[in-house]
Amino acid sequence: MGGFFVIDETTHLFYMGQLSGRSIRTFVLRQGRLTEGQQRSLDMYWGQFGIDVNAGAEDALPEVASKPVVDSAKAGSAITDTGGNGIGGNDTGSKDTGSKETGVIDAGNKTVDAAVRVVRDESLTVERIDPHAQFNQQHPLWMEIGIGNGDALVHMASHSPAVNFLGVEVHLPGIGHALGEIAEAELSNVRLIRYDVVDLIEHYLQPASVDRVLIFFPDPWHKTRHHKRRLVNTRFLDMLARLLTPAGMIHFASDWVPYAEQVQQMVTEHPRFELMPAGDELNSVVQLRPETHFERRGLKLGHRVTDLVIRKRVDDSN
Ligand SMILES: C[S@@+](CC[C@H](N)C(=O)[O-])C[C@H]1O[C@@H](n2cnc3c(N)ncnc32)[C@H](O)[C@@H]1O
Repeated sequence: MGGFFVIDETTHLFYMGQLSGRSIRTFVLRQGRLTEGQQRSLDMYWGQFGIDVNAGAEDALPEVASKPVVDSAKAGSAITDTGGNGIGGNDTGSKDTGSKETGVIDAGNKTVDAAVRVVRDESLTVERIDPHAQFNQQHPLWMEIGIGNGDALVHMASHSPAVNFLGVEVHLPGIGHALGEIAEAELSNVRLIRYDVVDLIEHYLQPASVDRVLIFFPDPWHKTRHHKRRLVNTRFLDMLARLLTPAGMIHFASDWVPYAEQVQQMVTEHPRFELMPAGDELNSVVQLRPETHFERRGLKLGHRVTDLVIRKRVDDSN
């Protein structure tokens, strides 16, 4: 199977793992600089709290270190930023150039596609990750997808010490910020992965290994032609059905009503999931979610927030 690299916003080359053949990504990495503090946190704490995906492939890729920041001026300097909305979560007025052919650059034994910022390497093999093995204490595992700056993750991990939290994010400054907060709060129940979660689940995480998936304010991709970039779709629900334990659930929150309605509809039609009905159980799950950075942004714009709790159907036998 082929691996791939993504050109980072700081013109770093970053190993992102197996290529699934999926060309539509749910994010576009923006150009942006790490603050000194974020860089320091990455240097100091990634080794303690970060999980390297397919670390075993490093031997085959000597220029790719286990840390997420990898300088590769050779390839990076040749890449031009193709725009996009990235972490902003608001695609209004931004360019979607992800599907355009902007040229292919030779980077040694890999091929860099400047449009999708991917380098494929056919020599890599996949190493599955047992997420539980990454923690010192065995607890239920909750995975937050798209942690942003990590504030909600740190809050939840501080308030629920008997839960292990796995945060997944692609945006490097967010990872750097989160690492600093995790270290300051001296949390032992948090680990981070910097990776496209779709590929991560599809290729790396063990099935039935996660008890709860948290998706808070995913990029709404407002424009109709961008809806295909939304993270939650039926295929992604199928993947989560495999990833979750039998009693597992998904907590989805959005300030974009049409997206929440779309997810609600997909869940209703899904053979393995159902919506948790209103009541005490639903309230107790929803109450665990702190207000997030993007929620505050949405509320300022007058948006209405929807929380959906999605659980496996009682008759799910897969
Ligand atoms: C709109 S922000 C929300 C951040 C945070 N949850 C909050 O509420 O403030 C969505 C985040 O999801 C991340 N993201 C989008 N697609 C992703 C993917 N496929 N894998 C990992 N992270 C992703 C983005 O980088 C971004 O930080």
